[in-house]
Amino acid sequence: MDFKNKKVVITGGSQGIGFATAKAFSQKGANVLITGRNADSLRKAADEINSSTLQTLLADTSTIEGIRALEKVVAESGQSVDVLYLNAAIGVFAPIQQVTEADFDAQFNTNVKGHFFTLQKLIPHLADGASVIFTSSGVVRAAGTASSVYSATKAALNKIADIAVNELADRKIRVNIVSPGPIQTPGLLSLTTAETQAYLASRSALQRLGRADEVANTVLFLASEDAGYVNGADIAVDGGSIQYMLK
Ligand SMILES: NC(=O)c1ccc[n+]([C@@H]2O[C@H](COP(=O)([O-])OP(=O)(O)OC[C@H]3O[C@@H](n4cnc5c(N)ncnc54)[C@H](OP(=O)(O)O)[C@@H]3O)[C@@H](O)[C@H]2O)c1
Repeated sequence: MDFKNKKVVITGGSQGIGFATAKAFSQKGANVLITGRNADSLRKAADEINSSTLQTLLADTSTIEGIRALEKVVAESGQSVDVLYLNAAIGVFAPIQQVTEADFDAQFNTNVKGHFFTLQKLIPHLADGASVIFTSSGVVRAAGTASSVYSATKAALNKIADIAVNELADRKIRVNIVSPGPIQTPGLLSLTTAETQAYLASRSALQRLGRADEVANTVLFLASEDAGYVNGADIAVDGGSIQYMLK
């Protein structure tokens, strides 16, 4: 897979899956732009990726202002976007009775509104034949307690992706979803105890957590010409979680 001089935009690229994906695209020669809300994390990510063609943008893509800032930088670059990877998300886990309005809004703003309007504002900047990839989650196929709002955001995202497939087809833009299972990222590790991580690993047929680079590899495949006829797919990167549950 060669992404030489391809323009790749990744929301939430300073750590975890977004970072691993930015690194992988950079290693394949792409011009990568990553966003995040924390300047130090972005700097650290840029240092580690160490590519002259990596660009970072301090922008909160849960807000229209942040999305407009991203659109402006993309427009000023003068290069159409070949790959848009909508990845930034947050999760706040609590039983329905304990969910606050603030937590509900923060998750829907980041995970749904943010992706929706990032896509909307960047559609005019996408190259014909571009690839758009959404990060959903295996939670959509499960019914884990305390995950109602987070799961609902991902289910909403899946529907937006489905419709984008049809709306963008006339420009030969492919839209796909990657649905990770439990992946060892700073996000997951900060939200779970070692005991929970062991439990999550045990729910996969492969009996382990996934790695961020394993999700990144799937994103690169979806973005590549090798996946030229893959459109509207939802690829699980979860070590076989459903298979395990059906055992
Ligand atoms: N890890 C898993 O087990 C797992 C499983 C299923 C699905 N996923 C999905 O995979 C994606 C990545 O997850 P992850 O585990 O890699 O997360 P993570 O380690 O928490 O990283 C999230 C990234 O998104 C950025 N971000 C968060 N909110 C943002 C905002 N409003 N604007 C811009 N950037 C923002 C974060 O940087 P700042 O905080 O500095 O902004 C960070 O770079 C998410 O969509 C998540 O729902 C993860």
